[in-house]
Amino acid sequence: MTDGEFDVLILGAGSGGYACALRAAQLGLSVGLVEKGNLGGTCLHVGCIPTKALLHAAEVADLARESSTYGVTATLEGIDMAGVNSYKDKVVARLFKGLTGLIKGRGITVIEGEGRMTGPHQVTVAPTGSADEATYAGKHLVLASGSYSRSLPGLDIDGERVLTSEHAIRLERVPASVVVLGGGVIGCEFASVWASFGSEVTIVEALPRLLPPEDEASSQALERAFRKRRIQIRTSAPFQSAKVTDEGVAVIVEGGDVIEAELLLVAVGRGPSTDGLGYDEQGVAMERGFVLADERCRTNLDGVYAVGDIVPGLQLAHRGFQQGIFVAEDIAGLDPSPIDEAGIPRVTYSHPEVASVGLDEAAARAAYGDDAVETLTYDLGGNGKSQILQTQGFVKLVRQKDGPVVGVHLVGDRVGELIGEAQLIYNWEAYAEDVASHVHAHPTQNEALGEAHLALAGKPLHAHS
Ligand code: NAI
Repeated sequence: MTDGEFDVLILGAGSGGYACALRAAQLGLSVGLVEKGNLGGTCLHVGCIPTKALLHAAEVADLARESSTYGVTATLEGIDMAGVNSYKDKVVARLFKGLTGLIKGRGITVIEGEGRMTGPHQVTVAPTGSADEATYAGKHLVLASGSYSRSLPGLDIDGERVLTSEHAIRLERVPASVVVLGGGVIGCEFASVWASFGSEVTIVEALPRLLPPEDEASSQALERAFRKRRIQIRTSAPFQSAKVTDEGVAVIVEGGDVIEAELLLVAVGRGPSTDGLGYDEQGVAMERGFVLADERCRTNLDGVYAVGDIVPGLQLAHRGFQQGIFVAEDIAGLDPSPIDEAGIPRVTYSHPEVASVGLDEAAARAAYGDDAVETLTYDLGGNGKSQILQTQGFVKLVRQKDGPVVGVHLVGDRVGELIGEAQLIYNWEAYAEDVASHVHAHPTQNEALGEAHLALAGKPLHAHS
């Protein structure tokens, strides 16, 4: 006997879990959704949404500071972190309210408490508070327990001097100086925020460049822009140790250099939240804590799926959404097409932004051969709207010779908004000629995508040949 049975039982109500719940309910399936925290998970409460609100406040600060560039007289008097946090929290609260209503409206049963897998299709939930444990069953079980901020051996995260991004989004002051450990997405976004707010920022990255998974040209452009903004960048500098001092933190990198700052942000990746959840005991195939799933998000156990950050691959909210929707449709027998991981757009919302979809140049050359790949870079210098916004960067296209575009790479303020068209180009295997014949509104940054494809199709317009 269980305390409840569902067509679909989902462990975790983050992006992957709740998207699965919403779609499954829409398809007429009964859904139980287990969550120990808040509906919406990392993305809504401590990830994507609050950090992008901080980045927007940072943009406002930059605009105020640089207002004379536009002939506007304003001065940046300071950053009121209480005000910034209140704006950010209001954005989150509004979305949370909306999501809660949506989930209720679809008739999904939300089971509050900490769940763990106690049978092949069963989850036992220890409710928040003193109530007794309850056990639920699902014809299908979806594991969607998300991820946590990783640390490094010897690094003690105290939430005071040594922070993860969860602490950083709640910070009530602008630090005078920060060392950002890890030049990945989180590291670059927070470095960007703090530099805009007036902190002295140093990024420490083990690999030779920032945003290592991006096209090399994008990393180089971001580094140039960050250096211009006086962000210190230490690449090829693996972390060795750190100690808390009276004034702050002293970080030692390999080679012995010591970097001191008021705070240290640890942004060295996110690990899968799977420990102690019973997956192993129930025989779910795992590797280094991640749950292994095939292209249909199926684990090795019949009727047990996994979505989101616990599955190896890109740890992005929109990948989780898509996997969640996919699983609901698969369960409902709609036979959805598997998701192409390379077709998932990636955006780093720093100033400037970096966005990409498909293969970078090196990956394309490895996949198709050196002679079978062509690239074209269109500089935003020729794009009217980018000049109006005073932003620099580029659109870089990677294509198979005489074939489709296989990668689009963008750098510049607001280029994240262009990734929608870029992902259609990649996912529809469009040829440059197909895109070139579409009209792009003038003046938009979107036009830069059109111009790049015009050039790749052999008929450049606003480009020096
Ligand atoms: P990440 O994997 O993007 O970057 C971590 C960086 O830390 C890497 O560049 C790595 O080389 C470096 N690193 C690791 N060990 C080091 C060491 N010992 N010394 C120096 N550097 C070291 O992970 P991150 O930035 O923590 O983000 C976690 C996840 O969250 C990522 O998968 C990311 O995609 C996702 N995320 C996505 C966002 C977006 O889409 N805009 C925003 C924030 C996070």
